[in-house]
Amino acid sequence: MFKLYFYGAFFTSVCIRVFADQCYYGGVKGPNGNYYNVNDNPTSWSGAESVCYNHLGHVASSTNAFSNAFLSNTSIDAAEFWLGGYNYNGVWNWRNSGIIQNGNYTNWATGEPSHNQTGYCIAMIKATRQWRVANCTEKKPSVCELPISRAWDYGKCDPSLQWEWHPEVNKCYYNNGEHPDTSFEDIIENCKGTYETAVPMIIHSDQEMSVVQGMMDAFTGNGCAERFMLGVHDPNNNGHYVWADGSAVDYTGWNPNSPPPTGACFFAFARGENEWNPSLCEAFGVPNGIICQYTP
Ligand SMILES: *[C@@H]1O[C@H](CO)[C@@H](O)[C@H](O)[C@H]1NC(C)=O
Ligand SMILES: *[C@@H]1O[C@H](CO)[C@@H](O)[C@H](O)[C@H]1NC(C)=O
Ligand SMILES: *[C@@H]1O[C@H](CO)[C@@H](O)[C@H](O)[C@H]1NC(C)=O
Ligand SMILES: *[C@@H]1O[C@H](CO)[C@@H](O)[C@H](O)[C@H]1NC(C)=O
Repeated sequence: MFKLYFYGAFFTSVCIRVFADQCYYGGVKGPNGNYYNVNDNPTSWSGAESVCYNHLGHVASSTNAFSNAFLSNTSIDAAEFWLGGYNYNGVWNWRNSGIIQNGNYTNWATGEPSHNQTGYCIAMIKATRQWRVANCTEKKPSVCELPISRAWDYGKCDPSLQWEWHPEVNKCYYNNGEHPDTSFEDIIENCKGTYETAVPMIIHSDQEMSVVQGMMDAFTGNGCAERFMLGVHDPNNNGHYVWADGSAVDYTGWNPNSPPPTGACFFAFARGENEWNPSLCEAFGVPNGIICQYTP
C-alpha cells in the first residue's frame, strides 16, 4: 500500500493534463472519422508525437483541403502549431499516413519548404492555414489524431458525454477521468452524475474485463491514473460482495496474493496487471480513474 501511495502521489504531481481539463483520450470527431484533440502545451515536434502516442495516436496529418481547414479551426490559441509532417533524408512524410509525394495535397506558404532535410518539421500557420517548415526542436502546441479504432463510437450511447459504445457486451462506457481522493460513495455519485443509470465498472465476463482493460490502458500514461475503482463492495461488511447495481459477483479477478477481506473496495490496474486489489472504501488515498457504464 505504501508503494502504491508513493506512485500515486508522484504521478499526480507530474500529470500533464493533455486533453481539456482532465486526463482523457479521444476528442472531436474529424472529417475523416478520426478523432482530434488539441495539446495546448508547447512542445518540440517529437514531444508532441510522444504525447499523442501515449494516447495511441499521432500528430495530425493534413491530407486534403477539408481536413486542413478543420485543423486550422481547432481551438489552439497560437500563431502556429505542429502538424504530423517531418522530413527524413530530404523526403517529407506524414507520421501516420506515409510519404508526401507528387500529387498529394500540400499547402505550403510562399517560399516553403525552405529546408528539405532531417530535423525540420511541418507547422501550420493558423491565420492562413498554410504550412511552414520549422526546426523540430521549436516548441509549439499540436493536434493529435486518433484513429477511430482507438477512439470511440457513440453507437447507441448518449453522445453528450462521448460514451463509448461496445456492442460486443451491449454497454456504454465513459471514462470519467481521474479523481484525487474519493470514497466508494463518491464514485457511485460520480457515475450517477454522468448518466442517470450509470454505475462504476461492473464485470461479469472476460469480454467485459477486456473492454475496461482497454479503456484503462488507453487512459493511463502522462502521469494519469493507473488505478481504476471497481463497482464492487461488501455493503453489510460480512464478506458477501455484490456489484453496485445489486448483481451477483459471478466473475472475479481477485489478486491471488490478496484474497478479499471483509468490507473492502477494489481497484484494477491499467497496463496489464488486471488483478483486483483491495483498498479502503472511505477514501482511496491516491488518485483513481473512474470508468462508468450503463446498458442502453
Ligand atoms: C472552419 O471555420 C470556418 C469559419 O468558422 C467555417 O466556415 C468552416 O466551415 C470550418 N471548416 C471546417 C472544415 O471545420
Ligand atoms: C499520396 O499519393 C499517393 C500516390 O498517388 C497515394 O497512393 C497516397 O494514398 C497519397 N497519400 C495521401 C495521404 O493522400
Ligand atoms: C525543397 O523541395 C521542394 C520540392 O519538394 C522545392 O520546391 C524547394 O525549392 C526545396 N527547397 C530548398 C530550399 O531546396
Ligand atoms: C535546430 O535547432 C537546434 C537548437 O537551436 C540546433 O542545435 C539544430 O542544429 C537545429 N537543427 C537543424 C536541422 O537546423
